[in-house]
Amino acid sequence: MGAPIERPNNSSVELSKMAVSDTHGEDSPYFAGWKAYDEDPYEESHNPSGVIQMGLAENQVSFDLLEGYLEKKNPEGSLTWGKGSYGFRENALFQDYHGLKSFRQAMASFMEQIRGKRVKFDPERIVLTAGATAANELLTFILANPGDALLVPTPYYPGFDRDLRWRTGVRIMPIHCHSSNNFQITPEALESAFEEARAMNTRVRGVLITNPSNPLGATVQRKVLENLLDFCVRKNIHLVSDEIYSGSVFHAEEFTSVTEIIENRDESVRERVHIVYSLSKDLGLPGFRVGTIYSYNDNVVRTARRMSSFTLVSSQTQHMLASMLSNEEFAEKYVRINRERLRTRYEMMVEGLKKAGIECLNGNAGLFCWVNMSPLLKNNTKGGELDLWDVILKGLKLNISPGSSCHCSEPGWFRVCFANMSEKTLDVALKRIQEFMDQRRRF
Ligand SMILES: Cc1ncc(COP(=O)(O)O)c(C=O)c1O
Repeated sequence: MGAPIERPNNSSVELSKMAVSDTHGEDSPYFAGWKAYDEDPYEESHNPSGVIQMGLAENQVSFDLLEGYLEKKNPEGSLTWGKGSYGFRENALFQDYHGLKSFRQAMASFMEQIRGKRVKFDPERIVLTAGATAANELLTFILANPGDALLVPTPYYPGFDRDLRWRTGVRIMPIHCHSSNNFQITPEALESAFEEARAMNTRVRGVLITNPSNPLGATVQRKVLENLLDFCVRKNIHLVSDEIYSGSVFHAEEFTSVTEIIENRDESVRERVHIVYSLSKDLGLPGFRVGTIYSYNDNVVRTARRMSSFTLVSSQTQHMLASMLSNEEFAEKYVRINRERLRTRYEMMVEGLKKAGIECLNGNAGLFCWVNMSPLLKNNTKGGELDLWDVILKGLKLNISPGSSCHCSEPGWFRVCFANMSEKTLDVALKRIQEFMDQRRRF
């Protein structure tokens, strides 16, 4: 996704309230940093002093595995159309919102694979959407009315400000989490967010979490998930778990999906649980726009399927990925190697920052570290954090995302991505940080 387009608003023709509302969430350093990168991108030989993009949670570490599979083992699934092959006409005409059965089966099988085959997914409950962005918005449309609220633990993925709010008119009420307990969601924080909404006469319709968390890069503990589920049952609200990074946990056994904790619960518990997943992160395919909603609630599945008409996945993409994802041998190998590579990158990052004197939250998943730069702040405020962000962006030419853009309540934390570049580029970024820290120590 590119940086937002900015043009002066000098038109005399009116647009809708939604079009001019600022709930799109793009007025944020998260997006401003992308623009700075787009204007001066680092390139080893042509622009070695350019901005290195560390604000984009993209996974480029395992492309060789995907390309290798598509080229060698599966010419049928490739993007070219051989004469008489399955084929052009079938793909050109297919637009059923149920999606290709073979693809839903493949997605179910891949999602089981990621969870170590501890759980089963029913392909009939899989609703296909154009990425997790569409899945999250679609679920919000289904679960809440304009003016209602979803509770979301902070810090959270800045895109939620757009995805959950802009077109739906739904509000986000933060569940404030703190560094003192590694930003885990406590029962007190949940209760207080719920009460805050009630005091504002706002009806809470559900809790939406990311597990593993973006931007923390850490899995949600099983006990926390169980508390969360009990809370949702007690308040009679929904629980949405965005598990988009579930295949990017460095050690598979450290991840508990919400599916695992509802397996033996009765219908009244299960019907409030919905999972979001996409191939953007684990497979590194954000451009293919493949996401899913998996709901245990029949009405939600039915409605989501109808609404997915607005946001279907191209049949060509479904066809191409179906054969790849249903190949268990390939899927197992891909997920295993991808996990190892991400862990190696994470360790390289943490080690490099540690040498420079900077600490990170203990992470175990994802494409980024949650980095504590609070000791570097001139003043311990959001303004102080943004001043430091500016120095890092303009002086060090590194685009990292300030915690305030993720609604973190403690200044000084930053999300720093490590999987959208080569190891060599990561090394250059770490050297820039090391030099910056050395200089600070000297003066
Ligand atoms: C937690 C979370 N949810 C959803 C998305 C959007 O993903 P997609 O590219 O599948 O729309 C992202 C992307 O960064 C994310 O981090």
